[in-house]
Amino acid sequence: MAPRVLVVFAVVPVFAAIFTRHTTGTHLDMQHVHARGAPRELGAEESPITDAYVSKYEVITKWPHKGDAFTQGLAFDEQGTLYESDGIQRRSAVRSINVPNGENIAVTRNSATDFGEGITVIGDKLVQLTWQNNVVHEYSLPSLTKTRSRKLACRGEPGGCKEGWGLAYEPSEGVLYMTDSTDKLFTLDPESLQSRGAARSIVDPRMGRAVYGVNELEWVEGELWGNVFPMYQGTASECIVRINATDASVIGWIDMRGLFGSQRVGVRQQPHNYVLNGIAYHKPSKRLYVTGKSWDHMYHVRVVPDEKVHQSAAHVASICSLGDASGLRG
Ligand SMILES: *[C@@H]1O[C@H](CO)[C@@H](O)[C@H](O)[C@H]1NC(C)=O
Repeated sequence: MAPRVLVVFAVVPVFAAIFTRHTTGTHLDMQHVHARGAPRELGAEESPITDAYVSKYEVITKWPHKGDAFTQGLAFDEQGTLYESDGIQRRSAVRSINVPNGENIAVTRNSATDFGEGITVIGDKLVQLTWQNNVVHEYSLPSLTKTRSRKLACRGEPGGCKEGWGLAYEPSEGVLYMTDSTDKLFTLDPESLQSRGAARSIVDPRMGRAVYGVNELEWVEGELWGNVFPMYQGTASECIVRINATDASVIGWIDMRGLFGSQRVGVRQQPHNYVLNGIAYHKPSKRLYVTGKSWDHMYHVRVVPDEKVHQSAAHVASICSLGDASGLRG
């Protein structure tokens, strides 16, 4: 009987440790996390890429997020520092975040007329779009010292970009991917900010329709991910879309429903305003963080395939609130 007793004593502390980590974990120390191992429990070493057309999420950890931050962009640098771009005139800024308490490490405010939008990291600089000013700002990292501001050159091109929404840097091709509120995906030269080739419509072949309002973009293991805010189609979505940047076709969807509903009442009462709008992927640890406009929390999430019964275009259409496929704005 003695061996059985030993087994019981050995197993209990392991479950206790996992339970504690899932429910109250607040640390971000990668060394500590890696030293403790157990990738399945931490979700740190698992790729977020699934073969499923529709995936869902599990929350690994949550931390506080500033409730006055109108999140428009979220990105890690190579060292693992997390940056956020916030919108709204007179409230816009870029800042680095001390994740466990949500407080700023460094902050650089935008001018009163700027409305901060998507951000991406290129080496040791942060690039920030603005919404309707056609200006792109650059900051050196990690200090967030502003180094230059340039015109969004694609705005002046025939069929060019309309507004600054999502932005992601793709390191192997060395290009920026950008969205502008429509169904178009723009490929920009990071230096000139001019289009490389014609913009393509983001189309889901299974649904047989274009996807409008793809917003905060993130480059995740060879795919382009974005949350979806079809603002000019009169709706807001709680889905993340996975895009093949080569042909702008939709690979799949992630059902993020439930996170928005976990925010405070003032946020929950405005589902068209305080949408999910931040996706950051830290490639070395394969960690995926998400948050939203004025949300109370920042989340470390794991992506998992949804049930087989949910693997259909009809299911996506029923849960993702993608709005009128014809669009209300040309
Ligand atoms: C992306 O599209 C290209 C061109 O259609 C195709 O060759 C490639 O396999 C696609 N990649 C994925 C991940 O679907």
